[in-house]
Amino acid sequence: MIFTVAIDGPAAAGKGTISRAVAAHFGFAHLDTGALYRAVGVKGGDPVAAAQTLTPEDLARDDLRTLEAGQAASRVAVIPEVRAALFDFQRRFARAEGGAVLDGRDIGTVICPEAEVKLYVTASPEVRAHRRWLELGGDAAEVLAQVKDRDARDMGRADAPLRPAADAVEIDTSELSIEEAVARAIEVVRARLA
Ligand code: DC
Repeated sequence: MIFTVAIDGPAAAGKGTISRAVAAHFGFAHLDTGALYRAVGVKGGDPVAAAQTLTPEDLARDDLRTLEAGQAASRVAVIPEVRAALFDFQRRFARAEGGAVLDGRDIGTVICPEAEVKLYVTASPEVRAHRRWLELGGDAAEVLAQVKDRDARDMGRADAPLRPAADAVEIDTSELSIEEAVARAIEVVRARLA
């Protein structure tokens, strides 16, 4: 069975948690596509060359989740040649036999426009910044500024900007618990599988 669940949305909206839970629930493979851009961002040197030669070791680095790696990822993600270099891998993953969940910014719009399920997971900037701050600490005002900065860059870029696909189901997690958000996502997938 080929079945793709595309989960897009801004930083810290809950995409990762929801994606992992949906993949585990249905026995689908999961790809965190932000990790690809983070790995390119922290590798240094020419980002296009980094994207073309990404290795499993690059993706296993333990500094990929930092705020700095997120910012670096967002900066290299505006480069069309970087996105092009990562396209085939994501595309193959999405359409591989057995079902796949991919989370990112452009999965439902660019990587897999024919995805069987498209979710747009969002939350207010304040709620997202608070979650990031609980996770990583630091100066709360600075974390909020970084979240807004990343939103502006991810939504404003020319190539594959972050936006909901026309047929995406939106889940605003601002006032939902993790359990509620996961249950909603699972329900959308279950309805489409039925
Ligand atoms: O989801 P994340 O925070 O790990 O993503 C880090 C950055 O990578 C994000 O700010 C923009 C970029 N990105 C992208 O451009 N396209 C994707 N599909 C995933 C991430």
